Amino acid sequence: MDGSTLARLKDRIKNSKRVCAFTGAGISAESGIPTFRDAGGLWENYNVEDLVTPEAFERDPAVVWRWHIWLQGLAFNAQPNAAHKTLANMDSLFPEFLVITQNIDDLHERAGTRRMVKLHGDIMEILCLEDGHVCRVTSPMDSSNIGPDALPTCPKCGGAARPNVVWFGEMLPVEPLAEGSEFARRCDLLFIIGTSGAVSGGYGFAESAKRGGACIVEINPEESALTYLADISIRKPAAAAMPELFTP
Ligand code: APR
Repeated sequence: MDGSTLARLKDRIKNSKRVCAFTGAGISAESGIPTFRDAGGLWENYNVEDLVTPEAFERDPAVVWRWHIWLQGLAFNAQPNAAHKTLANMDSLFPEFLVITQNIDDLHERAGTRRMVKLHGDIMEILCLEDGHVCRVTSPMDSSNIGPDALPTCPKCGGAARPNVVWFGEMLPVEPLAEGSEFARRCDLLFIIGTSGAVSGGYGFAESAKRGGACIVEINPEESALTYLADISIRKPAAAAMPELFTP
């Protein structure tokens, strides 16, 4: 991005009232949490079918729990990076602001973002299969004793439980998707940060924002399935690119 484009973008940011950020695994990459489809990403080393589908959980819940607890440990040990922190500052800057994240880590929350919807659930939460309530873990779960007859249970009622995340083949939570779609449709500036757009084509947020006249800014070192929608593409890692948008 050349100097005049950066200046134009900074001006657009200054005059925006309703700002949206659609984030993916790439925004947490510099915090040490692996992405899914990059070279060396999680789906290069693990089979989706064995880990993140209802059928996998039915077939071998212990394997699914152990993998999710491993990922949960990475998230617990990770720290929000400059991109998460910049978005958290933006939350207090704009009259209307929303982060729509596909990420299941809690780095946006820990950076201080308040106005946010999580499309794919939360690796820090356990969903009770008996009565549907959700418990949040406050320390990393221990997977060393997990086995077919020793599975994590609901901390509240002791019933059968599962990670509170959306697996392939499952429906997204209705409210977060509806809130995100409604907000994106009416925003005047939408950032696409660190997502390949590989899942559901990015859920249509950028398309509807563009139809509504929003400026679309993609922050990703690589092209993605959503690049065609970007008015401005910043081919940099998010932790470097985001703070630069707010330096005088
Ligand atoms: N800064 C910005 N973008 C980055 C960075 C970085 N430092 N590092 C990598 N990226 C980009 C990659 O170029 C890629 O386009 O982040 C994107 C990560 O893409 P994916 O691994 O496909 O992750 P994501 O788009 O979030 O996947 C969506 O797929 O497997 C499911 O549920 C999972 O939520 C996930 C969903």
